[in-house]
Amino acid sequence: MRLLATAFMAAFAIALLAYVTAAQPPGGQEGRRGRAAAPLTAGSPLPKTEAEKKILAVLEDMRLNQARGMQNVPPEDGRLLRLLTEAVGAKHVVEIGTSNGYSAIWFCLALRTTGGKLTTHEIDARRAALARENFRRAGVDKIVTLVEGDAHKEVAKLQGPIDVVFLDADKEGYFDYLNKLLPLVRPGGLILAHNARSAAGPMKKYLEAVTTRAELETLFLHMHAAGIGVTLKKR
Ligand SMILES: C[S@@+](CC[C@H](N)C(=O)[O-])C[C@H]1O[C@@H](n2cnc3c(N)ncnc32)[C@H](O)[C@@H]1O
Repeated sequence: MRLLATAFMAAFAIALLAYVTAAQPPGGQEGRRGRAAAPLTAGSPLPKTEAEKKILAVLEDMRLNQARGMQNVPPEDGRLLRLLTEAVGAKHVVEIGTSNGYSAIWFCLALRTTGGKLTTHEIDARRAALARENFRRAGVDKIVTLVEGDAHKEVAKLQGPIDVVFLDADKEGYFDYLNKLLPLVRPGGLILAHNARSAAGPMKKYLEAVTTRAELETLFLHMHAAGIGVTLKKR
């Protein structure tokens, strides 16, 4: 009987706690008392045009039905990639690590309006085929060039200027990609690195380089555990 009463009290306490937590508005009670306020959330992206609506629908379908094993960026990171790309008016984005094309299609949302194009690299033939199909159904295939093969070799064929580089493949390779691609990035261009989370891991040399060179300005955004390093090549 006593055990039953204890269990009942515990369940009641958990339910009460859940209610209080859910009832807090962003910046509510806690914010007013000077403690950390709950972060604001942006809500879902709102399509401005029918074309944008179609692309967002494909992205959502990929998130719900294809994401397993694809190592896609979270939607918020995709939105950030789109926002930065559109903000710098990018004409040429280079991505390393296409997978099934999820982040690539976020870039395309921006490139449709800037009149730009994406070159994206993938070593895995099965993923590359899936990406091609996704580009086609999102209606962005004409602004994407998918290069199949080892990006460490393939990037040597690229020509500048590049406005945005997105690194999202083999982490230990980021330093090599930086050395090969930075000369092609235009002044004022961006190098974005996904999974920038630990200075001691496989990205050590890359992170050292982007935080110690005077011609670069780097910040790390941690909207998720993965983190994105945002590096500006100064003018
Ligand atoms: C984290 S996934 C990319 C996810 C993708 N950016 C997205 O968010 O939808 C990394 C991809 O990089 C590819 N990759 C790994 N090493 C590579 C290399 N040397 N050259 C080209 N692609 C590579 C993998 O096959 C994998 O599909």
